[in-house]
Amino acid sequence: MRDLLPPEVAVAVAGPDDWTAPLLAAELACLSDSAVESRRRDFTAGRVCARRAMAALGLLPSAVLSAADRAPVWPPGVVGTITHTRGYCAAAAASSSVVRSVGMDAEQHRELNPGVRRLISLPEEDERMAALPAGVSWPAVLFSAKETVYKVWHPVVGTWLDFADAHVELDPDAGTFTARISPARIDAAPVDNPPRTVRGRFVVADGLVRTAAVLPTD
Ligand SMILES: CC(C)(COP(=O)(O)OP(=O)(O)OC[C@H]1O[C@@H](n2cnc3c(N)ncnc32)[C@H](O)[C@@H]1OP(=O)(O)O)[C@@H](O)C(=O)NCCC(=O)NCCS
Repeated sequence: MRDLLPPEVAVAVAGPDDWTAPLLAAELACLSDSAVESRRRDFTAGRVCARRAMAALGLLPSAVLSAADRAPVWPPGVVGTITHTRGYCAAAAASSSVVRSVGMDAEQHRELNPGVRRLISLPEEDERMAALPAGVSWPAVLFSAKETVYKVWHPVVGTWLDFADAHVELDPDAGTFTARISPARIDAAPVDNPPRTVRGRFVVADGLVRTAAVLPTD
């Protein structure tokens, strides 16, 4: 993830001990009593990474809570993002004075079943992916890029995006993607200057797809 984001964004990737490290009391209170072991481990690794990323910015690492919709609640003046998938967890943080929003997502690199594919991609995206080099599950990259787009969009705008609301072009040579948000979502956005385009980077390695994007301040 480090290579996918600019230097003003601090990135922390979970090590072996981070999945079972202590949580702050306020973070622990965000975990449902009925949370299963795997959810506890993912949540814990995400919070440990979030605090480590904030410490790397020179900030006092305080609790990152969870909103009712599960969106992370970063301390004032901080923007950030968390992702976890089997065996991998990372968090990133930046000062809101230098970055408007940051998102990242990690997924297992695998073929997506046709039902999921139909749900996440637009016909023109399918057409373009069919022409991309073999050996990579491009739908998995597209899926991850769209999750990243949502993680960039939602903290800034506060509204939902369907998978059809982001039109994503992947550039396999540059390892970049460009997402154009649907005009309807932009027109309905309850904020000034909603993002129209989200530009990010991706990498496929070690059995994972990783994507990340930042929205610069204007
Ligand atoms: C929220 C969502 C993007 C999370 O992605 P995921 O691949 O399921 O899971 P990840 O492990 O990568 O990310 C989970 C983390 O995302 C963060 N997250 C949850 N909701 C979020 C939101 N609204 N905004 C930003 N981050 C959010 C949380 O930190 C969560 O971890 P935590 O619960 O331990 O704190 C996904 O579940 C979702 O709802 N997707 C549908 C919306 C969407 O992607 N639309 C496509 C738009 S083009």
